[in-house]
Amino acid sequence: MQFRTVSTLAGEQLDALIVPVFKEGNAASAAPDDVRQQAEWVARESGARKLFGSTTHLQEGSDGGPTRLVVVAAGKRDEFDIQRSWQVVSSGVRSLWQSTARRIAVVVETDALDRTEAVQSAVEGVIYSMWRPETYRTSEDERQLPPIEEVLIVAGDAADEDAISRGTFVGDAVNWARNLSNEPANLMTPTRVAEEAAALASGAGLDIEVVEEDAAREMGMGSYLSVARGSDEPAKFIVLRYHGRGGDGYDLGIVGKGITFDSGGISIKPSEDMHLMKHDMTGAAVVLASAGVIAQLGLPINLICVAPCTENLPGGHATKPGDVVTSMSGKTVEVINTDAEGRLVLIDGITFAQREGARRIVDVATLTGAIRIALGRYYTGLFGRPDAFVDAVRAAGDESGERLWPMPLADEHRDEVKSDVADLRNSAGRLGGAILGAAFIDAVIDEDTNWAHLDIAATAWAEEDRTYSPKGPQAPTIRTIVELAAKIAARN
Ligand code: BES
Ligand code: MN
Ligand code: ZN
Repeated sequence: MQFRTVSTLAGEQLDALIVPVFKEGNAASAAPDDVRQQAEWVARESGARKLFGSTTHLQEGSDGGPTRLVVVAAGKRDEFDIQRSWQVVSSGVRSLWQSTARRIAVVVETDALDRTEAVQSAVEGVIYSMWRPETYRTSEDERQLPPIEEVLIVAGDAADEDAISRGTFVGDAVNWARNLSNEPANLMTPTRVAEEAAALASGAGLDIEVVEEDAAREMGMGSYLSVARGSDEPAKFIVLRYHGRGGDGYDLGIVGKGITFDSGGISIKPSEDMHLMKHDMTGAAVVLASAGVIAQLGLPINLICVAPCTENLPGGHATKPGDVVTSMSGKTVEVINTDAEGRLVLIDGITFAQREGARRIVDVATLTGAIRIALGRYYTGLFGRPDAFVDAVRAAGDESGERLWPMPLADEHRDEVKSDVADLRNSAGRLGGAILGAAFIDAVIDEDTNWAHLDIAATAWAEEDRTYSPKGPQAPTIRTIVELAAKIAARN
């Protein structure tokens, strides 16, 4: 797909033209006059501007062939933001799924958003909507996407190549991570994640190191390895490094939970919905994808990306409830519940990143069912310290169109994760379960580390179709991490 910004559509032959129209009845600001009049008329006549994201089509004949006018309800104008922008564009393109559209145009809103944001989010929206989950359907028709070749972004003024390439990098990265999450666990093994990471690294100019189990043992990663014991698949501790600033140390460390299948282990999960635990490596996919974008953008920061990957299965060698293991930090852990495995792999990933010199850490994990109860489907849980860093991460979310919600973490919670027999216990009951997960990780965070923990257990997988995306993997927080990295780079 080729993207190009244009200021007018005069003389362009299009298969489809996507125009957002606000609830108040006015079309997106960059619409040329004739397009505006027609789109506003369609919205008025069909009443279709009411339900956010809904689309109405009008087929128009002309000399060069028909053009479909796709009017998308864009919500209230003063509520329009980056997230709504990509959602509206995604809805528009999704409504073309069964079509043969090759050449389309998208009108963007350049008053409510600045032009760069408007262009970037529109490009992302088009790319997100060109992802479908049915990889293993044998009938072509059922997974056909429109053969879109060229997308004109109608944004007024001159071309904005940077916004297009940023949107393309981010959009492709999100779809890449969605693919990894969506793959079944028999195929997306830790070995396969490492292969995908290697391909990504060579494309983006990142260094990759895969720490095998023996080496991990020598480094003392007893917590991470305790999760791998029940599996016959070799565990892979994946490390990507990027030196955009040069010099020593890392400005940012990103650590993602990479459980390629979470059965719960000996503390086995109920079978209902267990199949969805193929996406328990979404944190890993998200940090790898984010590292790829940061390198593609050439941001002047040093970045270390860590993805500890393994399966969590029961078996004759599997870790048992009550077992005690020693983490890389030196802290001992009593494994109360083998299903609380995410925190076990994360603490060794985080300790590794800190020892490599990362003084800011963001971890991303499908960590707790409890965050789903606390926040529901649309917000990622945000924890960490100090507050200033947590605020910076939340701001990066806001500015990139992602929803994060700050959660508390007090010394009383830290006390609750202390074990009777060891330093820590990995499970301490159901009350405030998401906070206890964060409190456990907190125990290995160095005094001078800025740390944020993103619990994406509710946002990584949509259980229902949305106007802007099919149900399934969402790969949340890539945009937030890239935005945070850009902010850190701007201060370097
Ligand atoms: N991967 C799960 C959390 C999860 C649940 C993610 C549903 C996505 C959807 C995690 O490893 C887990 O099992 N957490 C336990 C922790 C408990 C045993 C302390 C949970 O939340 O029940
Ligand atoms: Mn689990
Ligand atoms: Zn898990």
